[in-house]
Amino acid sequence: MISKRLKEIAKFSNGYNNLLDVGSDHGLLPIYALKQGFVKSAIASDINYKPLIKAKENFIKNNINIETIIYDGIPETNSDCIVISGMGSELIIDILEKTLSNAKSLKRLILSPNCDYDMLRAYVTKSFKIVDEDIIYDKNHYYEIIVLEKGFEQYSEKELMFGPILLKKRSETFLNKHKKELNDYLKIVDNITDKVKKEEIENKIKMLKDLI
Ligand SMILES: C[S@@+](CC[C@H](N)C(=O)[O-])C[C@H]1O[C@@H](n2cnc3c(N)ncnc32)[C@H](O)[C@@H]1O
Repeated sequence: MISKRLKEIAKFSNGYNNLLDVGSDHGLLPIYALKQGFVKSAIASDINYKPLIKAKENFIKNNINIETIIYDGIPETNSDCIVISGMGSELIIDILEKTLSNAKSLKRLILSPNCDYDMLRAYVTKSFKIVDEDIIYDKNHYYEIIVLEKGFEQYSEKELMFGPILLKKRSETFLNKHKKELNDYLKIVDNITDKVKKEEIENKIKMLKDLI
């Protein structure tokens, strides 16, 4: 069954022609996007063969036509909307660095890593601007969704850390995530002996206190 997280990510593809889901695993996101009528067609790609076999089974079960491609990163594509989700930010950055040039018709990029959102925002905002963001709580985890389009905007350290649009929306989920984060840091800060690490955590505590 498709998760709340994947449903929320898929929503941001609404209105585009062709969705490419990179690292699609079992292909649940493109199935949902097509069934909801968010996009006209979809492609599921993955570096691994096995997940795509499962994805193909799911496409047959759902009587839906979705192309599958085995590829490391973004394959050559005419897709106007690309999703990369459920991976670490470092891997997403590596994929973009090596293969973004394969996406010649890209209009919208939807990213939802598992962690290190600040690092990913700092990287992608060199060539994209953030046009929307969301934060959801699903299966005991908080997930942020970053929606990008070509362009440039200058972002502050605070905006890269918390998300410029998430900061404006200030949803209950957003505040809950950062209250929990603050509590977690407060629990460990006194026991940290490494001076640099301690300063880093103290800086984060200050930013979180200012935010909440
Ligand atoms: C944890 S799953 C995430 C699946 C789905 N995107 C989601 O958000 O739930 C990560 C998937 O990415 C694939 N993957 C990892 N590295 C990749 C790469 N360099 N290029 C394409 N797919 C990759 C893995 O094979 C796996 O199916």
